Amino acid sequence: MSLFRAGLPALLLGACLVLAAPLAAQAAPMDAAAAQVRAEKPAKPPTTKELTKDQDSYLALVSRDHPLDPANYKPKDLRTVSGTGMELRKDAATALESLLKASRKDAQSLSVLSAYRSYDRQIALFNGYKARYGTDYATRISAPAGTSEHQLGLAADIGLSSGVCNLKACFGETEGGKWLAANAADFGFIIRYPADGEKVTGYKYEPWHLRFIGVDQAKAMEKSKAGTFEAFHAALVKASKVKPPTAAQIKKQRESLLILRFLPPYRDWSIGYDFAR
Ligand code: DAL
Ligand code: ZN
Repeated sequence: MSLFRAGLPALLLGACLVLAAPLAAQAAPMDAAAAQVRAEKPAKPPTTKELTKDQDSYLALVSRDHPLDPANYKPKDLRTVSGTGMELRKDAATALESLLKASRKDAQSLSVLSAYRSYDRQIALFNGYKARYGTDYATRISAPAGTSEHQLGLAADIGLSSGVCNLKACFGETEGGKWLAANAADFGFIIRYPADGEKVTGYKYEPWHLRFIGVDQAKAMEKSKAGTFEAFHAALVKASKVKPPTAAQIKKQRESLLILRFLPPYRDWSIGYDFAR
């Protein structure tokens, strides 16, 4: 046993150093590849605070039940989405520009119909719908001021440049609408108000309304089959409350993994030997 506790590790360390010397010249490309892998690693899981108390988070849930505070909130990092006269928060604007570029490459002709809307603009819009359709229907299609994702600077309404089916459910059946649904997550967007989601979201189907939540989370939501952002957000909040393992639990797990590594058929006398033991 003492051979394995001291002699063998020293011998293997020496052998590794000898073998590693010729590889040193390749260090630069290996580092670049490692950096790329690190960059592609998914972001850290969001904290409860980020999810529930931070309106500047890309994961903030804003709805009639989760109003902005203050009601006239305005994001600090708005910028114009190039090629449009409209604004979004910086990262969302960049993501939307990339999405539009990709759509053009796929021969789609999409236009931005609406993006950031101020508190005052949302009041005017909601009142217009109320006057036209009555309060009940207006509340199914338009958010009262202080509760709209457009005011958050993370939502954009997309339509066909031809105007066909713009802001209508039939947009979802058009080639452009289908392209949007299939590709939005690659750019960090979700279709925020899905068909059959009204009971949960409070809004009728809006296949044109994109909400930016970041690429990792948009793809995670797609995979999760949560259906609505409300359900996905609730799952994230729940996960954020799971306590990380204690130091004692980590130690115990590490010990059991070490035992497994030394048991046949997984005999491994070289890698990961714990010299500190
Ligand atoms: N049409 C969406 C719900 C809004 O007004 O924000
Ligand atoms: Zn919208």
